[in-house]
Amino acid sequence: MLPFDRRQFIGTSAGGIAALLAAPAVLLRQDLPTPAETFAPDTLFLTWRRDPTTTMIVQWVAEPYATQDSTVYCRSAPTSFFEMTPPEWIEAKPVITAFPLTDLTNFRAELTGLTPGTEYRFQIGKTSPTYKFRTMPAKATNDFTFISGGDAGVNPHVIENNKQAAKQNPYFAVVGGDLAYDNGTSSKTYLAWLRDYSKHMVDTKGRLIPMVVCIGNHEVKGGYNRPRADAPFFFAHFDGLFQDTSFGVLDFGDYLSLVLMDTGHVSKIGGDQTDWLDKTLAARTERDHLIVVNHVPCYPSFRAAAVTVGPFGKVGAGGTGEEQRKYWVPLFEKHNVDLVLEHHDHTFKRTHALKGGLKDKNGIVYLGDGSWGQLRNASKAEERPYIAHASTSYHITVHRLEGDKRFHMALEEGGKIVDVCTTEKKVRRKG
Ligand SMILES: [Fe+2]
Ligand SMILES: [Fe+2]
Repeated sequence: MLPFDRRQFIGTSAGGIAALLAAPAVLLRQDLPTPAETFAPDTLFLTWRRDPTTTMIVQWVAEPYATQDSTVYCRSAPTSFFEMTPPEWIEAKPVITAFPLTDLTNFRAELTGLTPGTEYRFQIGKTSPTYKFRTMPAKATNDFTFISGGDAGVNPHVIENNKQAAKQNPYFAVVGGDLAYDNGTSSKTYLAWLRDYSKHMVDTKGRLIPMVVCIGNHEVKGGYNRPRADAPFFFAHFDGLFQDTSFGVLDFGDYLSLVLMDTGHVSKIGGDQTDWLDKTLAARTERDHLIVVNHVPCYPSFRAAAVTVGPFGKVGAGGTGEEQRKYWVPLFEKHNVDLVLEHHDHTFKRTHALKGGLKDKNGIVYLGDGSWGQLRNASKAEERPYIAHASTSYHITVHRLEGDKRFHMALEEGGKIVDVCTTEKKVRRKG
């Protein structure tokens, strides 16, 4: 028998029908308590490798034999209590692999053929709690909210920002690199970050908030120019999207594309990745929302953007984002992307709309700078002419997409608004 069997539910009590008729409308059969032997993995999370309007990946890490049945049973939430024909069950058997550098196992089940803009409920086997998620809407005509940020880790600021993020009821969250600070070596750190995400990134209606990520230096042993094997936890969980490369694109129907870059951690910035970026952006000129996510900023707010040369040679760690400004910024401008989300410097930052590094009303805003759970002192805006606003704030950003308009609001962990800006749909040449 599948979970939440309607007959089982109705048959639970002789006086049940009358009681149920009197029950509040929110009492649904899926809300019934589950049997005692509950399997509830504390690392459970959602992500995607393909269209979020019709698919969802359910993933968790557990002891190899933690549950007898690891099949994910899923179906859409009933639209009313009196629904006569319950929705069809969708079952997904997980792909089971070893989780790196541990004795644990990774379970990945992908649900496909889902209906856009729909709430679903699922269980792992027949005795787990009932979890909820929703698919992305089919069209951009629906308003929706998502969260972005970067540079999290494992500390109380991350938890507070997770809670703040979840309160916004976002459809998903983008974590733009430096997720856990496991440095490709500490499974304990990676799993601790994931547990915090799993526990707190649940919206006010009880829906799990899927995550979309790009790679940062702290995913990788050695940080830069390393082989894929040096980012074991990142690829163990996200090689659906990053199957052959460490960069990729996620298309939401025909209206939103997130272009997820690797700022030199596993893939070089120039060469193949730059060629791919040009083609990828050219093929998406008609998107309502074309957004790039990269970890190291093109326009930093803490580190120096240019190498300073003094009488005794180079001074400081300068040159952050230099290669990206050389190879990628011209392509962002050629294809007129809507927004670049970037991180790594551990501050809040919003640049002016920029073209070639200079203020231009038709330019591109670069927003970040990665302080979900890490913090440094931001440079003053007047010290860097490309910066419109920078501050030393643990924060996440809430993006609300409404038709042609986008609202971007940076929130501190306590809920205080750090910054608000808007961007509008851009005219792009056909690719
Ligand atoms: Fe970082
Ligand atoms: Fe970083």
